[in-house]
Amino acid sequence: MLKHHLLAWEQFERSWGCSGLNNGHEASLNLARVDVCTYNQLSSVLRYADLAFHLNFLAALMSAKSIKKLTIPQPDDWHVHLRDGAMLAAVLPYTARHFARAIVMPNLQPPVTTTARAEVYRDQILAALPEGIKFSPLMTIYLTDTTDPHDLSRGHELGIVTAAKLYPAHATTNAEHGVRDVKNIQSVLEKMQRMGMPLLVHGEVTDPDVDVFDREAVFIDKILKPLRKDYPELKIVFEHITTSEAVDYVSSEGKKGGLAATITAHHLLINRNAMFKGGIRPHYYCLPVAKRERHRQALIMAATSGAKMYFLGTDSAPHFRQAKESACGCAGIFTAPSALALYAQVFEDAGSLSNFEAFASRNGPSFYGLPVNEKLLELMKIDHLKDDINSILTENRQEIVPYRNSAPLRWCVAEV
Ligand code: NCD
Ligand code: ZN
Repeated sequence: MLKHHLLAWEQFERSWGCSGLNNGHEASLNLARVDVCTYNQLSSVLRYADLAFHLNFLAALMSAKSIKKLTIPQPDDWHVHLRDGAMLAAVLPYTARHFARAIVMPNLQPPVTTTARAEVYRDQILAALPEGIKFSPLMTIYLTDTTDPHDLSRGHELGIVTAAKLYPAHATTNAEHGVRDVKNIQSVLEKMQRMGMPLLVHGEVTDPDVDVFDREAVFIDKILKPLRKDYPELKIVFEHITTSEAVDYVSSEGKKGGLAATITAHHLLINRNAMFKGGIRPHYYCLPVAKRERHRQALIMAATSGAKMYFLGTDSAPHFRQAKESACGCAGIFTAPSALALYAQVFEDAGSLSNFEAFASRNGPSFYGLPVNEKLLELMKIDHLKDDINSILTENRQEIVPYRNSAPLRWCVAEV
C-alpha cells in the first residue's frame, strides 16, 4: 500500500515539475493551479509524508493562489510592429500605455533601411503619442544586401538606432528586401560586433523545400550556429522563438552570453491546432507559425523560468481585418491591447508569478545594457472575468482585430 502511494506521489511530482517530499513550499509554488479538491485527492498520498510538509504545502498553496496584485518595474516590449499612418495612430496607444520602451520593427513599406529614415520614423511615432504618455521608441534598421556599415554605426553612435534587424529575404511580411545571404553583410556584422550593437534575427530559413514547421529548427543549424561561430562577440536576439529546438539552443548558448530570445504571448498560449479549430482561423496565423503542443510547453518552461536569456517581445503585428480574412491572409497577430494580461496569465498558470518581473522588466534591459525602468506598473487580478475587446478602428474606420484568448482575461493593468 505504502509503495503504491509513494509511486503515485513520484508520478505527481514529475508531472508538476517539483521535487523532494521535504520541499513543500517550492512544490506548491509550482502548483498555483492546484485547487483544494486536488489536494484532497492527494491526501491519501500525502498521509505518508510528514506533518510539516502538509502544513507548508497548504500555506504556500494558499498564498500562491491568493496573489491578487503584482507590482513590477514598468516593462518594455522588445519586439513590436507599430506600422505608420492611420494604423500607427490607432495601435500605438495600446503599446505606449503599458510599456515604457519598445524595439520598433522596421518592416514598413518601404522598409526603414537608413539612419535618416529611422529618425523620421521615430519622430512620426513620437508625434502620434497620445498626450501625457511617456514612451520611448527604440529604433531598428532593416538590413539589406547593400546596408552601409558607416550609416549604421553613425545611427547607433548618435543614439538614433538601437539595433539592426536581419530578415532572411521573403521570410515574412514585407521581407522581400531582406538579406539573401549572410555573407553579403559581413562588413556590417563585423562593425556591429565591434560596437556591441545587437543583431535581431527573424529565425527562419526561406528555402521552399523546407517544411514551414521546420524552418526555425533548420535556421538554427544552417544560419545561427555558423553566425555565432564567425562572430562570437556579436550580441544576437533570436526573435519570437517557437520551438523546443530554439529553447534548447538558447538555454545552453545563452549561458555563455551574447545570445538571448524573445517570446510572444500568443506562442505561449496557442499551439498550431488553434489555426484550424472548426475551420481556418486567420487571426491565429503569424510567422513563425505556432507549432505543436510540446513546443509550446518548452516555451512556457523557458519564459517562466526567469532565466536571463529570455525576455518579453510581443511581436504584436496588426493588419486590417480584410487583409487577414482573405484568400491569402497576412501573417501577424495584434496582441498589444491585452499582451501583459495574457503573459501574466501564463505565469500564473505555471505557478511562476515570482519570475514575471525578470521576464517582463529586467532581462531585456540587462541584455541591451539599458537601465531598468524606475516607474512601477501594477497588474491586478480581476474579480469579474473580463472579455477582451473585439476590434479597434482607425480614424478612417478601418478595422483591426486583436488577438482573442479562448478564456476571458484574468489580469488587468492598473493605470500607470
Ligand atoms: C510580422 C508583420 O506582420 O510585420 N508578422 C508576423 O507574423 N509576426 C512580421 C514578423 O515579425 O515576422
Ligand atoms: Zn515581428
